[in-house]
Amino acid sequence: MCGIIGYVGPREAQKVVIDGLRRMEYRGYDSAGIAVVGEQGLQARKKAGKLANLETELTAQPLASASFGIGHTRWATHGGPTDGNAHPHLSASGRVALVHNGIIENFAALRAELEDEGVGFDSETDTEVAAQLVGREVDGGADLADAMRTVCKRLEGAFTLVALDAEQPDRIVAARRNSPLVVGVGEGEMFVASDVSAFIEYTREAVEMGQDEVVDVNPDGYAVTDFDGAPAPSKPYHVDWDLSAAEKGGYDWFMRKEIFEQPKAVADTLLGRFDPNHQLTLDEVRISEVELKTTDKIVIVACGTAFYAGLVAKYAIEHWTRIPCEVEIASEFRYRDPIITPRTLVVTISQSGETADTLMAVRHARQQGAKVVAICNTNGSTIPRESDAVLYTHAGPEIGVASTKGFLTQVAACYLLGLYLAQVRGTKFGDEIATVMAELESMPAKIQEVLDRQDRVLALAAELRGARSVLFLGRHVGYPVALEGALKLKEIAYLHAEGFPAGELKHGPIALVEDGTPVFVIVPPQGRDQLHDKVISNIQEVRARGARTIVLAEDGDVEVEPYADVILRLPRASTLLQPLLATIPLQVFACEIATLAGHDVDQPRNLAKSVTVE
Ligand code: F6R
Repeated sequence: MCGIIGYVGPREAQKVVIDGLRRMEYRGYDSAGIAVVGEQGLQARKKAGKLANLETELTAQPLASASFGIGHTRWATHGGPTDGNAHPHLSASGRVALVHNGIIENFAALRAELEDEGVGFDSETDTEVAAQLVGREVDGGADLADAMRTVCKRLEGAFTLVALDAEQPDRIVAARRNSPLVVGVGEGEMFVASDVSAFIEYTREAVEMGQDEVVDVNPDGYAVTDFDGAPAPSKPYHVDWDLSAAEKGGYDWFMRKEIFEQPKAVADTLLGRFDPNHQLTLDEVRISEVELKTTDKIVIVACGTAFYAGLVAKYAIEHWTRIPCEVEIASEFRYRDPIITPRTLVVTISQSGETADTLMAVRHARQQGAKVVAICNTNGSTIPRESDAVLYTHAGPEIGVASTKGFLTQVAACYLLGLYLAQVRGTKFGDEIATVMAELESMPAKIQEVLDRQDRVLALAAELRGARSVLFLGRHVGYPVALEGALKLKEIAYLHAEGFPAGELKHGPIALVEDGTPVFVIVPPQGRDQLHDKVISNIQEVRARGARTIVLAEDGDVEVEPYADVILRLPRASTLLQPLLATIPLQVFACEIATLAGHDVDQPRNLAKSVTVE
């Protein structure tokens, strides 16, 4: 949801900024822009549409050489995706250029104030207000960092701001509240960006920025303060992945690459979870065992795919811990006055760690006295920083807008959490936990087996590319898998798709089934799951109405054969672990059908990764 970058150092700023924007384009791709300060003073270029349009503009109208600059790739909120609304925005005097991620909620009042002073506006954005305010301060003689602090104290809402001043060379100032910002520390050069992928090519040394902080960077270092100017402690860290993780590595799409990274991503998430005493450990736990023992309810809060991972996890967590577990969409959570007490354990799931709805749920839960455990993929991001405990999924950067390895690793991490709670509360014996862990640890190899069988799925996508509507059915943990399969198809193939509990279909949705409607059905393990036969009946119900049935069933399940038009085989796994396998053909199918339709799989229309506005 907007990617922003700033650079100061000896390299050509334009190249660093544009390369950084390319790596962050998944965050927003409605428009892009750059501003640099060089021998010819401040120069800016901006263009509606994808970054490629800006690059064409830069070829037509090159920028002069410069050693510091800022850039932005936008997901529009205030004002349509036009050249004029693209960032950077300049102050009236033309001294200050500023880029922004987030929403400035009180921008209308601030704009009216500036207009009363005679300031004219060139865009419909909330951002331009911040550019004008910072400009007004520096025009009045303020230091750029002081100007930023003064302005930030007046802003309401969510913002990461990065600004430069043509008259204060080799210096960039950035600020954050409720939106991501990370500092990259190079040798004789510094970066600020929405995420580390923007500068990973140059440095793996990063600094987390806290809430309501301003960072002032120059080629030799950085200084972090709060909005009042008091020094703030900074938290440096080393990024444990490199440039290759942020590149496609020969795949046509990041999404396809990330699908194929799942064996490793799940293995890395599970790695080293048993301590020498064979006890499960999480990453950072600031919750006492007494508190975990007295937890009387678990509420999982998340959005989109992460929400579906939570729906899968509910079955396992309740089964292993016997604690009631609810799963709630984050954007609904705090607005319905949920019953949260100090004995509630809230579990948030977020790949990015920056999703605004989930972050607000964390804050609401903590205000009610609940403890919050974050399951997150992004080291040092806001949600884990504000939580009481963290369990990181070690999936590496997820760049495709449609989440894939995010989902599988979230399910794996939730299972670790469930087993950890079972261990602490004694609802499972140690050997039972070890048995489940052993099966979990066998999953990466089975995930690889599913991937090795992708040809059948690719052929199916070619066959079904003309479908107008696709249904997905599952029961128990297969139901959230069905939801996830449908979401993938909607978001990248723009196809009407719905996921249903297979048993619910006859209560209404079966009316959607027409002659030839493709219906994917996830079949539970045969002989080990009471629902197996019921799902077979559900397949027959849709087939009798003309559906083309695509059945995901485990190896050796011959009972499904008479009712399946197509069978996608899965390696054997227990019911609770089957989602780690059954989801994969649905990801591959969506990726392929979108590719065949000619869509940009990594940058689907209207979407952006990391939704940092509510
Ligand atoms: C779907 C997808 C989104 C995210 C959702 C939550 O493919 O990517 O539905 O899952 O926006 O994002 P995170 O996990 O970053 O909080």
